[in-house]
Amino acid sequence: MEETNDLNRRKFFGKLGAGTLAMMAANTIPAYSIHSSLDKGKLAVLGGEPIRKNKAWPAWPQVTEKMLNAMADTTRSAKWSRISLKDGNVDTFEKAYAQLIGTKYCVGTGSGTQALATCVEALGIEPGDEVITSPYTDMGTVSAIITSRALPVLADLHADSYQIDPEDVERKITPHTKAIIPVYLGGLACDMDRIMAIAKKHNLKVIEDACQGHLAGYKGKKLGTIGDLGCFSFQASKGIACGEGGAVVGNDFDLMEQCFTVQNHGTARNGKHVTIGPKYRMNEFEGAILMAQLDGVRERFELRNANADYLNAKLKDFPGLVPQRRYEGTENGGLYIYALAYHKEHFNNADRSKFLKAIQAEGIGFTGYIPNGLHREPWVDHLTGLRSYKKMYSTARLKTFKEQMVLPQCDIASSRMVSLWASGPLLGSRQDMDNIIDAIMKVYDHRDKLSEI
Ligand SMILES: Cc1ncc(COP(=O)(O)O)c(C=O)c1O
Repeated sequence: MEETNDLNRRKFFGKLGAGTLAMMAANTIPAYSIHSSLDKGKLAVLGGEPIRKNKAWPAWPQVTEKMLNAMADTTRSAKWSRISLKDGNVDTFEKAYAQLIGTKYCVGTGSGTQALATCVEALGIEPGDEVITSPYTDMGTVSAIITSRALPVLADLHADSYQIDPEDVERKITPHTKAIIPVYLGGLACDMDRIMAIAKKHNLKVIEDACQGHLAGYKGKKLGTIGDLGCFSFQASKGIACGEGGAVVGNDFDLMEQCFTVQNHGTARNGKHVTIGPKYRMNEFEGAILMAQLDGVRERFELRNANADYLNAKLKDFPGLVPQRRYEGTENGGLYIYALAYHKEHFNNADRSKFLKAIQAEGIGFTGYIPNGLHREPWVDHLTGLRSYKKMYSTARLKTFKEQMVLPQCDIASSRMVSLWASGPLLGSRQDMDNIIDAIMKVYDHRDKLSEI
């Protein structure tokens, strides 16, 4: 079912009577309440009792006996590099993860950034080439492109989904474009049907940045299995975590062997040194933690999704905080974060920073997540000032590159983002989820007090 914000907002506004609409026309926003009967007292930020006091969220990552034993066994074995043994922890994890995701092959790496950089290099993307990606992502996505000295071209977003707008992707294709890296922000799918159609039409490769999208489904496929290659992060905060770690998945044997070779400092499995490549190998300790953590992975995934669905249902017709839009065909999410869009007109025009301060004081750790799109970060000027980039790209191309760093929808999206880190908190109970809703409604009920913060 398509769960778009448009629909929600239409439903909400559809319920409003003529009087209410007149109020809105006069710039007064009607009140709304999910738990109107609950007495929530004074805002905690102004000295009241917090909704959630001294109550920890479920810990993530969780440390299990199995993990401790696996680490001890690995330590004792003195085989700490994957090249020291055959069928060690990393080999075993690669097979298990490929099976979990539904691809033929998987190659472990030392991080999600390394997985992405491995794919860019393995696909033969070189200086002079362009790769189109999202501005609203971890710097690792862009870093993977510039490591191969290619030009990262940033497409604007659909502000309500926080995902790249396929039409802007298509507008930014040039004869130099070699690939698209769609980023699954929040572990939810982009409009992948459209992105794949554009890639096919223009003969472009697709590297999926599924660093936040473990196990998430879209139209019967798992994220990471739709394009040519898929990348995952197992960084400490992720839903599957080993400190720092990553993986590339895919079904094309030759391409996946090339990925193995690239991340193995250009050395193929047969020991021949054949290409350019850094050393991005996952080590045996990381493999040990990950293997042990696969226990219960589906149950945790389902729990996070059930809790996100519960929150979304509660907020369904509330226009002040609108859940991240899901494209048609989205089955569930990796849910690294639970993301909402803050509409200040429903909070007495209070700045998002005030809302965040108020809700954090209630014991709910919402943040603004990525403060602004990557088009607003200093790397853009750094890149265009580099001697290497000036040699490889004409002045006109670098000028266009900079001019394209105007991404108004991304600016709107980042200014509205209100996100809860989900790997731990969304493993909570229904009561934990109700605390989130109660805190939102408490702040909303006291929206006229936000100016005092
Ligand atoms: C969307 C996205 N892409 C890339 C990365 C980079 O992954 P890593 O931190 O494992 O290098 C991350 C990690 O936060 C991410 O969230």
